[in-house]
Amino acid sequence: MTNFTGSLSTNRVFRDTNVLSPHFVPEVLPFREQQINEIRSVIAPALENKKPRNLFVYGKTGTGKTVSVKRVMETLNGVVASIQYINCRIYNSRYRVLQKALKNFIPELEKSGFGLPFLYEKMIEIASSGKQLILVLDEIDMTKDLDELIYTLTRANDEIKGGGVSIIGISNKLSFKDALDPRSKSSLYETEMVFPPYTSEQLREIIKQRAELGLNENVIDQSAINLTAAITAQENGDARYALKLLYNAAELAEHNGKNKISDEEVELARKKVDIDIASETVATLPENHQMVLFSIANISLNGSRYARLDVEEDGFLFSGEIYEEYERTCKKLHKRARSVRWYHEYISDLEMLGLISTKMSSKGIRGHTTLIKLGHDAKGILEIVGKNLGC
Ligand SMILES: Nc1ncnc2c1ncn2[C@@H]1O[C@H](COP(=O)(O)OP(=O)(O)OP(=O)(O)O)[C@@H](O)[C@H]1O
Ligand SMILES: [Mg+2]
Repeated sequence: MTNFTGSLSTNRVFRDTNVLSPHFVPEVLPFREQQINEIRSVIAPALENKKPRNLFVYGKTGTGKTVSVKRVMETLNGVVASIQYINCRIYNSRYRVLQKALKNFIPELEKSGFGLPFLYEKMIEIASSGKQLILVLDEIDMTKDLDELIYTLTRANDEIKGGGVSIIGISNKLSFKDALDPRSKSSLYETEMVFPPYTSEQLREIIKQRAELGLNENVIDQSAINLTAAITAQENGDARYALKLLYNAAELAEHNGKNKISDEEVELARKKVDIDIASETVATLPENHQMVLFSIANISLNGSRYARLDVEEDGFLFSGEIYEEYERTCKKLHKRARSVRWYHEYISDLEMLGLISTKMSSKGIRGHTTLIKLGHDAKGILEIVGKNLGC
């Protein structure tokens, strides 16, 4: 049996899994028409060989920044304008960005060994032949020498005759702006655009669109769509999260031989998606953070010694008790526990990453104290961190 007929006979749920992959760019992007039009109008002068203004696109994760810019790109490449997508997480220095930007014109440049001045001269040569080079620098905050990169690209325009170089920077980190040199800040932020997070209603529409493209007819009911949207709205309206949820719910249904996705699959998928995201986050944590997290998960799962002393509030634990557990964890792993001051730093980092939440207790037997609660399923966290730490 060929794969094709094989997949036809087994796919009850999926019509096209590709549509639900993170790299798929839908033709229509609901609720982003305005942003797409704005990006288009910023770039439009390039089509008449006039240098577009630099653009900076900011918004929280999963608000459609990358996909909107890519949508615009698909309709723009032409003879005069050349727009190129560069992910600065991968091409994370001035040198690598220039190399990537030019290799479409001069493939040999991909080999190393060419110095920066050579790349710079080539860029000027290409643009001076009457081209508008537009560089989309996604996750621009990941660039190590960003000031130098922006300065180099801006400066190049003084030497280019007949064309130009401009930048579309994209980031989900507002704070990196403060770290920039005032000069690069003002060039980069020539035009600024903010993508707002999606509301629950908007997410419903986005999910419905993807379900129609990627799943068989009537596979997902309205209630499951609403639930997916509502859960995602709680997760800051991150459309990527919504799509992960939809994909995993569909996969579960498929796996269990069902031809319907209902609330049950969405709830189950949520657990898996949360664990996947948490494990990605946990994997990058330093050791002490992991040991603190392990300690929290351990007490959450195996019970608090203080539970009977104070009334425990929906899973919140005492900060002091977690510190004691952290000391025990360190001992078990033959590591030296850091001081309480450091411990507080770890707690606030873990909170920033959404792995835990904290609040102050109301005044009880032990006075005011910080209460801490795990943001995810304790068993899952314990498994992931335990594996990382080797305990
Ligand atoms: N309006 C929309 N309609 C349909 N799908 C969307 C929409 N907005 C975002 N998506 C989808 O959600 C996912 C996340 O979008 P995207 O990658 O553009 O987010 P982002 O803002 O670049 O996030 P990050 O800051 O994390 O890079 C993608 O798979 C994208 O296709
Ligand atoms: Mg992005």
